[in-house]
Amino acid sequence: MLPIKIAPSILAADFAQLGAEVERIADVVDALHIDVMDGHFVPNLTLGFPVIHSLRPVTDLYFDCHMMTTNPDEYVDALKNAGGELLSVHIEVFPDPEPVAALAKAAGLDFGLVVSPPTPFEAIEPYIHLTSQVLIMTVNPGFGGQSFMPEVLDKVKATRKVIQADGLATDIQVDGGITTETALAARSAGANVFVAGTAIFRQPDPVAAVRALRAAIGN
Ligand code: DX5
Ligand code: ZN
Repeated sequence: MLPIKIAPSILAADFAQLGAEVERIADVVDALHIDVMDGHFVPNLTLGFPVIHSLRPVTDLYFDCHMMTTNPDEYVDALKNAGGELLSVHIEVFPDPEPVAALAKAAGLDFGLVVSPPTPFEAIEPYIHLTSQVLIMTVNPGFGGQSFMPEVLDKVKATRKVIQADGLATDIQVDGGITTETALAARSAGANVFVAGTAIFRQPDPVAAVRALRAAIGN
């Protein structure tokens, strides 16, 4: 099993103090999860490249960019130039993700695939080898603060099985409704990267909240 990583979602942070919010948790987390939404793929708008660019000098944390947009392939260089490191795109946007994976790699980005709750595992199965991370959404994408959907854990298990059978070093990330309880369920199913927004930034002590998450999953 790959190392456990905690990746706070800045969507739940106070955007008026984003630099300070990130600095506060930087030493106790492994990556920063950045949710880019375009109002088309999902019914919400969040942030884009100027915000990522402004955050880049604040921290050395790995920038995991979850693109909830219809045309992220047109922005691979923009993401790289802003300081992004992982381009995660939805399989629902790219049923054949080979071209966008090639573009990401040519731009110097790591590549990840994301699968939304209604989409079956079979959609991503042939493409796992293209990725450094598979993100199994545990809520429908678009908003923070939703409830975890345990029924998607079968996809985590199926992904873990393929990764083990093929000897891959792919991370399995879960995102949405992650709490100390649900993180443990996802961990047991085979996830090793945990995104949490509300459970970290909306807590009175975000550092203690990260530690509680780690304790809950035995890390
Ligand atoms: C939802 C986003 C998530 C969201 C998670 O579309 O992909 O990253 O910020 O928020 P919580 O942890 O509050 O469910
Ligand atoms: Zn996300």
